[in-house]
Amino acid sequence: MPVISHPASTAISLPPFRFPPSLSTGDIKLRIVVLDTPDLVTQFAADMVCELVKERAREKIEVVLGLATGGTPLGLYRELIARHQRGGVSFREVDTFNLDEYVGLPPDSPQSYHYYMLENLFKHIDIDLERTHVPETWNVDLDESAHDFEMNIELAGGIDLQILGIGTDAHIGFNEIGSSLGSRTRVKTLTRKTRADNARYFASPDEVPRMALTMGIATILESQSILLLATGESKATAIRNCVEGPITSSVPASALQLHPNVTLALDSAAASGLANLDYFLESERNRAATTRSS
Ligand code: GLP
Repeated sequence: MPVISHPASTAISLPPFRFPPSLSTGDIKLRIVVLDTPDLVTQFAADMVCELVKERAREKIEVVLGLATGGTPLGLYRELIARHQRGGVSFREVDTFNLDEYVGLPPDSPQSYHYYMLENLFKHIDIDLERTHVPETWNVDLDESAHDFEMNIELAGGIDLQILGIGTDAHIGFNEIGSSLGSRTRVKTLTRKTRADNARYFASPDEVPRMALTMGIATILESQSILLLATGESKATAIRNCVEGPITSSVPASALQLHPNVTLALDSAAASGLANLDYFLESERNRAATTRSS
C-alpha cells in the first residue's frame, strides 16, 4: 500500500480532549427539569448560577462561567442583574467565556455578541471586563483567535458551568448540523436555517453574517457542568432529538448525552415532544423526595 506523506502541519496543537471527572455513583448525569413557565426556567437557572458563584466566593475560589446569547438566556441575565443590584451576588471574581461570535461584525455593532453581552449583562454588574471573553472575530487572524480562545479557557482552569441555548435544529453555540463531536473553537459556516432563525435580530435576512467563530463541541463537553435552557414549542423537536435520539453529529446537542453532569431546564412547551416525559417528571419528583428525606 503506498504511503501517503502529509506536509508538516503548521497548525498550532491544542490539548487533547478529555471529559471532566465523572460524578460519584448515584448522581444524575442528564437531569431533565420541566417547569411550567419560561419565568420559572429563568429562576431555576439564576439559582444555579448564583449558588455556584456564592459558594466559590465563600471558598475564595474563582469561578469560570460559559455564557450563551440568543433570546433564551435574556431572562437569566435580567435576573442576575436584579439579584446583583439587590446586593445578593457579586461577579467580581468571575471569568466568563462566551460560546460564539459572528464573523464580519465589529464588536460595537448592536447585532454582535460582544455588544449583546455588554448591554444585557456585563455593564450592569460588577464583573471585571478584562475577565470576560467573547471570541474575537474583528480584524484578527481567525485561526489564531480560535487558538487563543481555547488557551485562555485552559489558563483560567476550564469552565465550571456552561450555559447553553439550543437552535431549532439542535445546534449548540454555532456548532451546526454535521459538526464533529470532537471539534474545538473554529470558524463555522451558518446554515440557511440558523440564518433565517436569527434574521429577527437584523434589519434584513441578508444582513445575517454567513460565518461565526464558535467553541467546539469538545470544548463544551470539557466544562465541569452544563445547563441547557430551552423554552417554547419551537424547541420541542430539538429537545426530543437531543435527549432521546441517537448521539450523532446530525443533532449536535445529542453530544450532551456523553457528558457526566448536564441539566436541561425546560418549560412545558419545550418539553412537550419528549416521548418519556412522564418518566422524567417522575424522576424529578423522586429526586425531590430523596433530597427532602436525606
Ligand atoms: C444562536 C446562538 C445559540 C443559541 C441559538 C438559539 O444560534 N449561537 O447559542 O442557542 O441562537 O437562540 P434563541 O435562544 O434566540 O432561540
